Amino acid sequence: MKIITSPKEMKDFAHSAKAEGRKIALVPTMGALHEGHFSLIDRAKELADIVVVSIFVNPTQFGPNEDFDKYPRQLEEDLKGCADHGADAVFTPSTSDIYLPDASTFVVEEEISQHLCGKSRPKHFRGVTTVVSILFNIVQPDVAVFGDKDAQQVAIIKRMVRDLFMDVEIVSAPIVRDENGLAISSRNKYLDKLERIGAARIHEALLAGKKLVDGGSLNIDRVKALVINSVTNAKTRVIYVEVVDRETSLPVNEIVPGKSRISVAVWFGQTRLIDNIEI
Ligand code: PAJ
Repeated sequence: MKIITSPKEMKDFAHSAKAEGRKIALVPTMGALHEGHFSLIDRAKELADIVVVSIFVNPTQFGPNEDFDKYPRQLEEDLKGCADHGADAVFTPSTSDIYLPDASTFVVEEEISQHLCGKSRPKHFRGVTTVVSILFNIVQPDVAVFGDKDAQQVAIIKRMVRDLFMDVEIVSAPIVRDENGLAISSRNKYLDKLERIGAARIHEALLAGKKLVDGGSLNIDRVKALVINSVTNAKTRVIYVEVVDRETSLPVNEIVPGKSRISVAVWFGQTRLIDNIEI
């Protein structure tokens, strides 16, 4: 497995792979890799000849009071995980390689990003679309794989790729959960053992909402109220519970079974967790 830090070397690697007629898949990550990330690498292996994993904790998607400084960094372990899952290359640039000191260009999606996480993290998606565009330009993937765990992120990236005529196919992969149902996340590292078990309540609340819909209730307010009540306890603070279109992640006024999703964000103690379920 090749470990590449410079954008120039990454571009050269991509050019030669393409010249040989090989298809490249990119799995963008911020590291602290876990089974969720590895499932994306496994999916990417099925889709292309060469799998590149990027590991870059992207400063522009963190707000001023967010966890950029304490975000878990464990490069050695991550490289081992990538190698074990058969990645061909890991691209792990430094911040100054990606953002020149006077960089002044951003990529902004202006509709989907206004909702859900965009409300409480105002510049977050601007940072995501910008860094993903930069990574696409450097790695030149034919296909890029993202997780449904961040369904709104997937929707925004698909919209960006469509609107800007980018030549990359976006594939999404299902949420990987731990044995208690908690969606695996790098931020779960902030939870202690008991909190981790308690946080499984988020998935239980989503399942309760889905059950209500499966039972024939299409009343959004009832579904939202049930999810909010089920997730609320002494440790949690609900940031949002929304019923959205399954593809666009835009809030809807009507539940359409098979075409909707319930998305939630909650503070669990000091940790911000998100999850969703298709309904
Ligand atoms: P990160 O949080 O590291 O996630 C990288 C990818 O892994 C994302 O596509 C995310 O949806 C996926 N992922 C995380 N947990 C998952 C789980 N439990 N099951 C399935 N997939 C999971 O998302 C980002 O990084 C960044 O915003 C990034 C796109 C890399 C841009 O900086």
